[in-house]
Order: sequence, then structure tokens, then C-alpha cells
Amino acid sequence: MKKIYIKTMGCQMNVYDSNRILDAMAALGYEETQDMTQADFMLINTCHIREKASDKVFSELGRMKEIKDQRLKEGKATMIGLAGCVVQALGEEAFSKVKYLDVAVGPQSYHLLPEMVTKFERTHNRQMKATFTSDEKFDSLPKTQARGYSSFLAIQEGCDNFCSYCVVPYTRGCEYSRSAKEILSEAKQLVETGTKEIMLLGQNVDCWHGLGLDGVHEWGLARLFEEIAKIDGLERIRYTTSYPVDITDDVIAAHRDIEKLMPYIHLPIQSGSDAVLKAMNRRYNVSQYLEVIEKLRKARPDIAISSDFIVGFPGETEKDFLDTMAIVDKVQYAQSYSFKYSARPGTPASLMRNQIPESVKAERLSQLQEKLLSSQKKFNESFLGKILPVLFIETEKEQVSGYSPYLQNVHVKTSEKLLGQIKDIKITRASASSLSGEII
Ligand code: 5AD
Ligand code: SF4
Repeated sequence: MKKIYIKTMGCQMNVYDSNRILDAMAALGYEETQDMTQADFMLINTCHIREKASDKVFSELGRMKEIKDQRLKEGKATMIGLAGCVVQALGEEAFSKVKYLDVAVGPQSYHLLPEMVTKFERTHNRQMKATFTSDEKFDSLPKTQARGYSSFLAIQEGCDNFCSYCVVPYTRGCEYSRSAKEILSEAKQLVETGTKEIMLLGQNVDCWHGLGLDGVHEWGLARLFEEIAKIDGLERIRYTTSYPVDITDDVIAAHRDIEKLMPYIHLPIQSGSDAVLKAMNRRYNVSQYLEVIEKLRKARPDIAISSDFIVGFPGETEKDFLDTMAIVDKVQYAQSYSFKYSARPGTPASLMRNQIPESVKAERLSQLQEKLLSSQKKFNESFLGKILPVLFIETEKEQVSGYSPYLQNVHVKTSEKLLGQIKDIKITRASASSLSGEII
């Protein structure tokens, strides 16, 4: 059997895509390896969201080239490939930039990878595909299977929002929803092969809509939750990412009514300043965002809220930044991701004249992260002495770890075999990033 090594960068959607690439390549006789030196095919699934992520791709490629040269000395050929959003953004330029690149495939075309690899092996002509064909992609991929107790499942891709800083509408294309039938069949396969938890993925997951199983009525996300919740053996449902004002009342009610739907929501605000939100082309203001949170907390008082933040967006004043800091105090986030604004080629914000100096961005990010960490720590400490049901998914030496309903990482020292099980854990220690406890 030939071996494939995949390095995955970026978001959860990329992790999902890499798994599907492995499914597709398995049909061609490729088996996954974690050891680059053993790989006949080395592939990077790339992220274009910020400059730093994009730059990392090229340093990683350099490392692969060294291994390729070393393998060549041992008489072994190695293919080098790129997948994902950087390919979509660069197009043919990827080949002129990276002379030793053999195949390149965009995020909507990776179902074609086996065919491209076969062609390359035969002709040694470099292969590139970067067209938008979401429906074709999902139709032609082979069946997937669980690779652990918690699995990602993409239900929607792309984005029509065009936030002024973001490359996703250009790299992932316009909004596309998979059918309920397809999603349910994939969810069942995942559960049959061992998954206990499914994380439904979409760049704008609340936009998901599709023809229901009756073939007549259109379903929305809440209805999909209901149907997935009926799958025997599935314990937990999660979803991400929500656009704050697209979340519907029935999804909010689902947090109250569907037991398997976990009390956690990722609701990126990006900025706490109305002026900045407007310049970002976000379709809400701060008070509308807070209203959504109020509704969610009314439906499910213990719901954990997480968010993304961007500091140093063009024109962001000190006052705008302080408004973002104030939001953190108001909402009390359970988790968060925060970034310095990164100007991306082709986006409207990259052309704005009032760009913020790097040093100011760095200072604001460090202040914001300090506040976010303390909010996270406070959230975690509120569970000290309490009991949380934890789904265990990883083990290392004498420790097992898993996740609470609120997506807190929980560690337990034990030699008991707990993988794939949900156990009640008494929380004895809490930090900003994790909890530890004992089985009761
Ligand atoms: N610069 C910095 N952060 C960005 N994000 C998206 N585009 C940019 C950018 N140009 C962040 C947003 C988004 C998360 C996935 O990445 O916060 O929610
Ligand atoms: Fe990166 Fe966004 Fe593409 Fe995901 S969708 S790989 S985060 S650019």
C-alpha cells in the first residue's frame, strides 16, 4: 500500500476535509501515515484566513522538499501536493511560486484528487483543480467513517456575507447547503462506526436549509437537530459557526428542548464597537448581539458562549477598542479566539487607508487576551466542586481526557478504560484552559 501524509492547517472544516481526502485516497490504495519520511504523497491542507497562516504553508513546503530530496537519494519518489484555501486564492500562481509542487486542489474540488494523482503518476504533468462544485464533491466522495469518538460533519459551506476583512467568500465560494438525506446518512455512518458526538460544521451554519426527508418541506437547522438527535447511540450534538443575527428562534428553543444539543454556542462578535462593526460590514450592532445572547440565556440559562475577536481593524480608535473590552465584561465568555487584523489580498478592508500600526495591534491583542483569559478562568472556576458529565475521547499514559457539555477540556488521572464513555466527574481543579477531576 502507498502512504499519504496530510498536514492540516486552519479551521475545523479543514480537519473534516482532510478526513474526506483520506477517504478518497484510500479508495486509490493510499493509507495514512503520521511519519513524513514514509510518505509517497505529502499533502498540506492550507488556510488563507490570515497572513501568518498562509506564510506557514511555505515554510512547511520547504520541510517537505528536504524530505523528498532525502527519499530520492534512497531511490524513492515522493509527490508533493497542496489542498485548501491557499490553492483557491493562488490558482496557477501556486505552481510558479513552488517549483516542486506536483498537485494542487481547491477546497471544492478535492473529490478529484485520486484522478489527479493517477494522472500525475502516469504523465508527470502537474495537476491543478480549483473550481466550485460543492454538490458534485459530496456526491462523488466515498462513504466516510468515524476516526474517533467525536466527529465533524460539514452540513453547509461557503458564505454570502462578505465581511470586509474576510477571504472566505472568495476561497470557499457562495453559501451551499447539503441535503438532509445526505447529512443524516453520513451522521448514521459516523455513529455506526463509533462516534458518540457530532459537531455540525458550516462557515455560516445557521444558514443551513434543505429539502426535508419527506421530499416536500424545507427544513432549517432546528429541524435537522431534531432528526439527528433521534440517532440511537449518538450522545451529543454540537454546531459551529453561528452568525449572530442569523440564529433563529427555533434554534434558540432547540437549546432548551433537545437534550443531546450541548449548551454551548460559538457566536463571534468580532468587535464591541458599532462603528467598527459597520466598517466590517457585519449585519448587526452591539445591542442586537446582546439581545441574541439574552434570548439564548433565557432558553438555556447555563449556555456557554464563545466568540472570535479582531483587534486593530482599519480605523479602530482607542475608544472602539475599549468598547470591545467592555463587551467581554458584559458577556463573560467561556472561550474565545482573538486575532490581530490581517490585511488580506482582494478584500475591501485591505484597501482602507486608515490601517493600524502593528505595535498598536499587538498591544491591544495582549490586553484583550488577558481579559478573555480571566473571563475563561472565572467560568471554569465556577465549576469547582461540581459534577460534570464528561465524554472521554483521548488517553495518554495514566490520564484520560474529554469534554464537558460546555466544551471544557477535562482531565482525569485513572487507569480505567473510559474512552468513548460519558462519566460523571467531580471537578477538583480549574485553570483558564482546562479542568481536572475525579470519577465519582
Ligand atoms: N484578520 C484577522 N482575523 C480574521 N478572521 C477572519 N478574517 C480575518 C482577518 N483578515 C477571524 C475572524 C473569524 C475567524 C475565523 O478568523 O474572527 O471569525
Ligand atoms: Fe482557513 Fe477559513 Fe479556509 Fe477554514 S475556511 S481553511 S479558516 S480560510
